Order: sequence, then C-alpha cells, then structure tokens
Amino acid sequence: MQSDGFFIVAVDGGAASGKSSTCRALSARFGLLHVDTGSYYRAITHRLLNLGVDPSEPHAVEAALARIDLGTRVADRSAAMVIDGNTPEDEIRGPEVNANVSAFAALPEVRAFLLEYQRSQARTARDGGFAGLIMEGRDIGSVIFPDASFRFFLMADPKARVQRRAAQGQTDSIQERDRLDSQRKSSPLVCPEGAVQVDSTHLTLEEVVEKISEIIEARLGETSSSG
Ligand code: C5P
Repeated sequence: MQSDGFFIVAVDGGAASGKSSTCRALSARFGLLHVDTGSYYRAITHRLLNLGVDPSEPHAVEAALARIDLGTRVADRSAAMVIDGNTPEDEIRGPEVNANVSAFAALPEVRAFLLEYQRSQARTARDGGFAGLIMEGRDIGSVIFPDASFRFFLMADPKARVQRRAAQGQTDSIQERDRLDSQRKSSPLVCPEGAVQVDSTHLTLEEVVEKISEIIEARLGETSSSG
C-alpha cells in the first residue's frame, strides 16, 4: 500500500480461470483501473500476424516490434491497448489469435517489449484518479508487480474452464495454452510465492469476488485504522 492509499492488485491464473469477470467486478467495487494483460498479448499477436510475422522467427518479431507504436485508451474503468492507432477488439478473441498467442508470448523479445508498458499502467491509473490498479495475467505477481499490495492466483479444474469458454461461444485450446505458458523459460505461468490461491471450480463468480474482497477490505481497514 502506498502512502496516499493507492494500491495494486495482481491476479494471475491459467486460461479461462475466471480472471476477467472477477477483476471487472473488483474494479467496480474498489474503484480500480482494470488491466487485462492477456488482451495486450493478444493485440500484439493480432498485429504481428497482420504484418506477416511468424513466431518461429524472433529476429523478424523484434524488427516488427521496433516499429510498433503503443498507446492506451481508458473506457469504463478498463484500459485498452492502442496499437499503431487502432484498438482491435473482437478479432483478438478469434481462433487465429488463440492458436498463436502463447507462441508469441513465450518470446523474450515480446515480453521485454511489454514490460515497461504494463508497469506504466500504474501511472495511468493514478493520473485517471483511480483508487488503484487491478492487473490480470500470468506473471503479474511474479514479474510485473512482485511488490503489489495484493496478489491472487485463480484456479479451476480444466473441465469447468472448457465449459466457461464454450458458454462464451469461443473455441479455445485452454490446456495447450496453459502447457505452453507454464513451460516457457521467460516469465512462465506460476503461482507466485505468497500469493493467495483461490479455487473457483465450485464457487460462483459472486463467491469468488466476495472471498477476495474480504481480504482486500480487511487490509484496507487495518491500514486506515493504523494511520
Ligand atoms: O488471459 P488470456 O487467456 O487472454 O491470455 C492470452 C495469452 O497471453 C496467454 O495464453 C499467454 O500466452 C499470454 N499472456 C502472458 N502473460 C500475461 C498475460 C497473457 O504470457 N501476463
């Protein structure tokens, strides 16, 4: 927690583990800027595929990244990436991006390109007058914000996750992405040491949000009463 009360919540977890719905609800409850870093890796993937770049050619990826211009647009308490002047939306959830995003995300060149951009979102949240930042991804509590005030790791059994994606009408290789994301050398998907694990397999969204909110509220209460 920073001296002015601004705080960062890091939420990590595998594909379709319920991060986005949970983070959206928490952002509304606590007045936080919501950043879905998966959407950033997806937007980059979409752009690189459009530029005809293949993840098997890291040098070509690096050269293409050097020419990409990034900005941020904030709407409804969520930050979206503006990439070369555009904010891709539905197209980043399509099968082509699903099939390629983990290969691009495994490249150190791509992760290095996004590192400072992701960290700079704390400033975007402050400048926008938010009470804090809630950022979801795979390496937020381990690499991007290891000193975040709160770090959570969401889990759910694979069957429940496949059902969630099907209910959203999406085709997604959840287990294959988790396998690639967990096994890569650069910032793999891990439960950061000391993070609070929440298994949502048998919980409703409201129950998950309540569980996490109680932890945040307890600490916010302690901080305000101590000083
Ligand atoms: O969260 P979502 O499933 O949309 O993320 C898409 C992909 O982006 C993940 O499978 C992973 O390969 C990559 N990713 C990542 N690090 C993050 C967020 C997402 O590598 N912090």
